[in-house]
Amino acid sequence: MSLPDSIETDRLLLRKWRAADRDPLAALLADPLYHRFMPGPSPRSAADAQFERIQQKIEIHGFGPWVVELPDEAQFIGFLGLGIPRHTLPASPCIEIGWHLIPSFWGQGYATEGARASLQFGFEHLGLDEIVSFTVPANIASRRVMEKIGMSRDLDGDFDHPALEPGHPLRPHVLYRIQPAELDQA
Ligand SMILES: CC(C)(COP(=O)(O)OP(=O)(O)OC[C@H]1O[C@@H](n2cnc3c(N)ncnc32)[C@H](O)[C@@H]1OP(=O)(O)O)[C@@H](O)C(=O)NCCC(=O)NCCS
Repeated sequence: MSLPDSIETDRLLLRKWRAADRDPLAALLADPLYHRFMPGPSPRSAADAQFERIQQKIEIHGFGPWVVELPDEAQFIGFLGLGIPRHTLPASPCIEIGWHLIPSFWGQGYATEGARASLQFGFEHLGLDEIVSFTVPANIASRRVMEKIGMSRDLDGDFDHPALEPGHPLRPHVLYRIQPAELDQA
């Protein structure tokens, strides 16, 4: 099966990673605002490790998050797309969708636009039968993206993230799911 190298949406280019993406990725992962609902901010060494991990997973599985580019405006505004969760979760085995944008680009519908294209890629090119997403309950922006792209909360799916110790405020997570038939209804 040949997979597309990139995806164009109305306003975005979802593309493969380049070495030049290391620096803007590190800047994003060092931003406390970006980390409001995730553990961090991360030092440069952790950002470099994350860059390597993403490349390795794409090499192994043939897919992973895309870099989000705004053509003629910004070569890196974040990354989003599909992946296999790093940790074993109650929903595992599963494919997740996630989104991570530079704060100055929030609130313009970019995550939703890129996420819709990623879902389509997952269902039409990868033939997936379900995609999940999860976040902390307070991350309303992320939950709103999930809802706007047609995902439904699995009320029985709440879980404690295994990477965080008991009592950590970011440990409880909510789980959303979507199957191919629901994509058209979004
Ligand atoms: C989550 C994230 C990707 C959203 O990106 P975005 O481009 O701003 O998303 P969109 O503009 O497509 O949609 C955001 C929606 O949330 C809404 N929203 C954002 N903050 C909100 C808040 N505090 N309360 C209520 N709604 C809120 C927006 O109004 C919008 O909904 P609308 O279109 O109905 O008005 C971005 O906030 C981000 O990168 N956050 C840091 C990383 C992160 O937390 N990722 C998720 C990890 S699970």
